[in-house]
Amino acid sequence: MNGFVCGVCGYVSIDGTAPDNCPVCKAPKSAFQEKDAIKTAEAEGPKEKHVPVIKVVKTCGLMGDGCTDIHVRIGDVAHPMESAHYIVWVDFYINKKWVERVHLSPDCSPAAAAHLKSTEGKLTVIEFCNLHGHWINEVDL
Ligand SMILES: [Fe+2]
Repeated sequence: MNGFVCGVCGYVSIDGTAPDNCPVCKAPKSAFQEKDAIKTAEAEGPKEKHVPVIKVVKTCGLMGDGCTDIHVRIGDVAHPMESAHYIVWVDFYINKKWVERVHLSPDCSPAAAAHLKSTEGKLTVIEFCNLHGHWINEVDL
């Protein structure tokens, strides 16, 4: 699928426009390029390991009411986390608006979590693999 990709930090704008400034790294609009580079489940082989698997927990165990927990694991088959090949970050969006980035290292599991104030809307998750690029998945909260 198409998106405007920040040439500095890899953030993807998914609302059909390049922002004035990248919400993640503040790079200017000129740093963005439209690319057909965001892969969906159709691009994955039978041994899936890139598409974000999203679990929504409506009742947050930490913050209580009004907080929605999002648990993401990268791949039905867990993606490798080695220095040569790993998941670099995971971005969370509500209704196509970016809300959070979680940075990972090879010492992490291929997983991330977010505590969101939103209790409804469309949640999008994009992860970036250092070898295989951007992968997307979406669910309704
Ligand atoms: Fe990969």
